[in-house]
Amino acid sequence: MASIDYIERIPNNVNLAENRRLLRALEEWQPKFLEWWRDMGPDGFQAKEVYLRTAVSVDARGWAQFDYTRMPEYRWGIFLAEPEPGRQINFGDHLGQPAWQEVPGEYRGTLRRLIVTQGDTEPASVEQQRHLGRTCPSLYDLRNLFQVNVEEGRHLWAMVYLLDAHFGRDGREESEALLQRRSGDHDKPRILGAFNERTPDWLSFFMFCFFTDRDGKYQLASLAESGFDPLSRTCRFMLTEEAHHMFVGESGVGRIVQRACEIMREHKTDDVRRFGGVDLPTIQRYINFHCSVSLDLFGSEVSTNAANFYTMGLKGRFEETKRKDDHRLKDGTYSVATLVGESIVTREEGALVSLNERLRDDYIADCQRGVNRWNEIIKSHGIEFTLTLPHRGFRRAIGAFAEVKVSPDGRVVSEAEWDARHRDWLPTEDDERYVASLMQPVTDRGKIAGWIAPAARGINSQPADFEYVRLG
Ligand SMILES: [Fe+2]
Ligand SMILES: [Fe+2]
Repeated sequence: MASIDYIERIPNNVNLAENRRLLRALEEWQPKFLEWWRDMGPDGFQAKEVYLRTAVSVDARGWAQFDYTRMPEYRWGIFLAEPEPGRQINFGDHLGQPAWQEVPGEYRGTLRRLIVTQGDTEPASVEQQRHLGRTCPSLYDLRNLFQVNVEEGRHLWAMVYLLDAHFGRDGREESEALLQRRSGDHDKPRILGAFNERTPDWLSFFMFCFFTDRDGKYQLASLAESGFDPLSRTCRFMLTEEAHHMFVGESGVGRIVQRACEIMREHKTDDVRRFGGVDLPTIQRYINFHCSVSLDLFGSEVSTNAANFYTMGLKGRFEETKRKDDHRLKDGTYSVATLVGESIVTREEGALVSLNERLRDDYIADCQRGVNRWNEIIKSHGIEFTLTLPHRGFRRAIGAFAEVKVSPDGRVVSEAEWDARHRDWLPTEDDERYVASLMQPVTDRGKIAGWIAPAARGINSQPADFEYVRLG
């Protein structure tokens, strides 16, 4: 094999050059990662030059570089946010002790599991999205897809770094396993449900970025509070990239909403499909689906695992340090939605066991802000239609509502009502067929598919007809 200068290949701020053991582990893993990327990464575009940003430092004023890159040559780097001098553990039983720089032995297994579960989502989404390039609505969107993909690849590197640097042999085994599971595979599926769903079209892709990547944001934010300092610093830097993924999702759906409204106004009709757009009720059904799948990722409403992660100091709350309480939560309570017979009620549960639900609440509030901005677009066109988030009990597979059927407006409904109505609530085969019929690639510079409005501005201030991907 040709020798590769890995220190040069892997931009990093973890002093890779000095850490021979880590460097060797990564040198062994890197060709396997590339093999995975070629097999499971973006299909059909590996040889094309893409206008990508690459993380080259953690400097808040300029951490990224934009340039044309072939994806397999992307420089997947390892960056930790700058250390906070004297950082302490900010919650749980170890509150006030110095943050751990090494894995605390008694929590080794738990911590490894948390890192592996997060790490597994990163390659999973690349696998889910690998065919989308062939049906892109514009070069701008194609580039954004690939940007998200390479950064999910970098997030995998980030987690593999933690496993290789801090967990010895079992860490290296987990790093390999992360490349062996496959999204949607019956025999070796990805760990979490949402990451085994299909992402067959661009409406699903934008919904995924809005809802499922946002789960990632909230998981990363609570891991960024961790008492294990390398995990905290890794996640803090990942969040800077994650912001772009949220943007792709929110603006993508927003542009589809905008196009629907333009068609409605221009043709004075609700029959948006006749003019090649995606009608608002279909968008609502996609929201219902992607939101419910993503809500499951937060786990059960009442969870001793969540309590333990917190008590151990491994996973905090969203914005833990901004909260004004004792950061131990042994005595507090929290309102949790639950089921009593046929009705949905809120009940006070112990604050520690309710941490999943609390994070889900933070997530829902954040989703709602995005939905409000979509509704502003609708309102600005003088159209009366309101997009909504489904009730948290809708179509859940995990937690208190898994055993019942709940309507999007939050009523427990009979099997008969569900059977009669679920076509109004979830994407139908007809919806999927229609959306699939729109997925015709548009790759001319400055051109855009008819079902989505153009972006308000270019990436890195580039003009509208910029050649984001050189298809040549
Ligand atoms: Fe990620
Ligand atoms: Fe992401």
